[in-house]
Amino acid sequence: MSESMKRPAADAALPTDISLNEKPRRNRKSRKDDRQDQPVLLDRPIIRREGERPAETVPLVLESPAGAGFALIDSGDGEKLEQYGPYRIVRPEAQALWPRSLSDRDWRDVDAVFTGDVDEDGMGRWRFPREPLGETWPMRLLDVDFHGRFTAFRHVGVFPEQMAHWHWMRERIAEAKRPLKVLNLFGYTGVASLIAAAAGAQVTHVDASKKAIGWARDNQALAHLDDRPIRWICDDAMKFIAREERRGNTYDIILTDPPKFGRGPNGEVWQLFDHIALMLDICRELLSPKPVGLVLTAYSIRASFYSIHELMRETMRGAGGRVESGELILREAEAGRALSTSLYSRWVPQ
Ligand SMILES: C[S@@+](CC[C@H](N)C(=O)[O-])C[C@H]1O[C@@H](n2cnc3c(N)ncnc32)[C@H](O)[C@@H]1O
Repeated sequence: MSESMKRPAADAALPTDISLNEKPRRNRKSRKDDRQDQPVLLDRPIIRREGERPAETVPLVLESPAGAGFALIDSGDGEKLEQYGPYRIVRPEAQALWPRSLSDRDWRDVDAVFTGDVDEDGMGRWRFPREPLGETWPMRLLDVDFHGRFTAFRHVGVFPEQMAHWHWMRERIAEAKRPLKVLNLFGYTGVASLIAAAAGAQVTHVDASKKAIGWARDNQALAHLDDRPIRWICDDAMKFIAREERRGNTYDIILTDPPKFGRGPNGEVWQLFDHIALMLDICRELLSPKPVGLVLTAYSIRASFYSIHELMRETMRGAGGRVESGELILREAEAGRALSTSLYSRWVPQ
């Protein structure tokens, strides 16, 4: 039976093999989720790490490679105009405080406009000025085919700024002299998982949403990667990594792209500020003896990249290597202005 079909095992005792010179630091809070009374997984102590902090490179602004499949055409006046495959799309963009470069006509002559709630996670609706469009359309990024998708929450099934990470990951997988094991946590529609698999990695993809896992499997078929080793796992990210730690499973590359707030399949609450330190701590334990990288991205949070940078350096104390942190940006094709999309921090072994 595939992992995704199994009921998650009941949480067994948490690991006690923390070495004696590592004093446990309690996590920020210990409480119950008040909605569904699911215990929030905060009982495993965060390991107090010894040794030097890794070297650092800050700030390092990563820009997605320009290319076919996607372009940020223009932005301004609180919106952005993007090209996703065949479609021109207008969406709200709170960071675009500046005026638009292109004419009103350019901004009107588009395929889809997201209107309604300007809140990042708010519901809203799509309007199709030219002709009614279906829910999905063909997309191709970094040589992988998948579906773009008009979703209720303004998202379109892919976060193209992540291409900067995917490009980095693809190179590491290609240059490795062995099949790397990649863990994609909060993997959404699976584009990163498919790019890793196409490059030759063995991939484990975890997401709480059955729907997102279904979309990811559809993308696998579309990308003609059905024969590649990808485990699609519908589970709570924290429960999954805690279980992997107990089993002693490890990964060469871990990508983690947690939302600010989310819920596991059984109502488990994910709160970024409550869980991120423990999540990274467990991810460190999941790194293989020859690790290649641990990459964290964070969207829509009130924090500086320094917050996740210093957390990553503390988490990776004694591991050597380097922590690089900053922002993922998209560059406008029209005027060349930079649009910040998210914060990231990644540990690499050298
Ligand atoms: C859209 S992606 C991340 C993109 C970006 N970071 C953002 O916040 O918009 C977030 C994914 O995390 C998944 N997710 C939310 N809570 C989760 C949890 N507790 N465990 C595993 N996946 C979860 C969602 O289903 C979704 O596919």
